[in-house]
Amino acid sequence: MENLKKHHQKVISYFKESELGYDVVLGGAKHFGYYPDGINNVTEKKAQELMQDLIAEKLKIKINQLILDAGCGQGIVSTYLAKKHHCKIMGITIVPFEINKAAKLAEKLGLSSSISYYLMDYSDTGFESSKFDAIYAMESFVHSPDAKSTLKEFYRILKPSGKLAIFDYTISKDAEFTRQEREIFDVIVERTAMGSIRDMRHKSFVNLLSNAGFKSVKQEDITKNFLPSVRKLNKLAKIPYIFVDLFKLQKHFINVTAAIEVYNLAEKGLFRYNIFTAEKPPK
Ligand SMILES: C[S@@+](CC[C@H](N)C(=O)[O-])C[C@H]1O[C@@H](n2cnc3c(N)ncnc32)[C@H](O)[C@@H]1O
Repeated sequence: MENLKKHHQKVISYFKESELGYDVVLGGAKHFGYYPDGINNVTEKKAQELMQDLIAEKLKIKINQLILDAGCGQGIVSTYLAKKHHCKIMGITIVPFEINKAAKLAEKLGLSSSISYYLMDYSDTGFESSKFDAIYAMESFVHSPDAKSTLKEFYRILKPSGKLAIFDYTISKDAEFTRQEREIFDVIVERTAMGSIRDMRHKSFVNLLSNAGFKSVKQEDITKNFLPSVRKLNKLAKIPYIFVDLFKLQKHFINVTAAIEVYNLAEKGLFRYNIFTAEKPPK
């Protein structure tokens, strides 16, 4: 792994340059929506909430539990969950402007007493051991500077019997990509700072969770339920991408490029969307 500071800087730059896009196109959320089987006619906002509901379902969130949002973005997920499930959430991110926006949103919604946000790297938090009842990482683990040390840290700060839910991507083995697919995917990985994607393979990411000590490790492939969300972005990006592709500007218009190329990779099974769940063993 490259130098940690450099990686953090890459993450910060990516989210800074994408701020307007996420706000305008996704309402400030930075994750895909969940479209139940056969149902495409829900709004993106509703689909985002259905994805967030899956966090609560997988973690079996209970009133007053203390939960870590690892990679909290602008607080869309944490405010939704705290409001609906009356839990306490600590949200962390390494992107300073996200903290300000998340805290403002929590305040606006009257949730400041149940949610707090901190500038912190989830792979090295400084929290005391066995602090949290549950941890979730919504499309954030992929940006981890190092998958193994992040899982080690999650394990350390979870209480015995605590639950973990990771909503994130996996990819096929390199050999299954054509050279062209690999080249464009490398650009996307580099520019969106997906530091751990190469450790997140369809079949083997579960082993990393087991090797970190987690039990009851499960993987659910929900690619077909996230595809309608990517398809919407793909539609929006189609015309701009004609110019991006013509002038070879992929690096400079990374979200337009990702909307087109990730959709193509997902349609071919090279890129999947999964929910990973696991538990720290009881004492
Ligand atoms: C795609 S966004 C998802 C944000 C939020 N979970 C959501 O769904 O709206 C990824 C988030 O992970 C955060 N992140 C990336 N690397 C991180 C790290 N090492 N420690 C903490 N947060 C990190 C980013 O700052 C960003 O907030």
